[in-house]
Amino acid sequence: MTRASLDKKPADVAAMFDGTAERYDLLNTLMTGGQDRRWRREAVRALDARPGERVLDLAAGTGTSSVPFADAGASTVACDFSLGMLRVASGGRRGRRG
Ligand SMILES: C[S@@+](CC[C@H](N)C(=O)[O-])C[C@H]1O[C@@H](n2cnc3c(N)ncnc32)[C@H](O)[C@@H]1O
Repeated sequence: MTRASLDKKPADVAAMFDGTAERYDLLNTLMTGGQDRRWRREAVRALDARPGERVLDLAAGTGTSSVPFADAGASTVACDFSLGMLRVASGGRRGRRG
């Protein structure tokens, strides 16, 4: 598996995430010991998005980081350059999100 670094071509980084998209959330939780969930809760708390507000989730991946903002009623756009991650986000395996 290629590792992302600042001198990597965007296409290589996107390809790396395409390759892990289906397992990304599980891998992320395992590799961070569940810290990923605490980081996202902190981001949601810090942003405190409200109905009628707009949130652009840059590098949204599988959309896990976008859903809480949509659930809070904010108009949320998840964007990413990995189509594999966005396919998972848009309902590939786990149904429509956010
Ligand atoms: C570590 S994942 C985070 C995904 C999500 N935000 C989360 O919290 O689970 C990073 C995501 O950033 C995307 N990404 C990295 N560099 C990017 C760039 N320059 N433009 C758009 N997406 C990018 C990758 O494709 C990957 O889906």
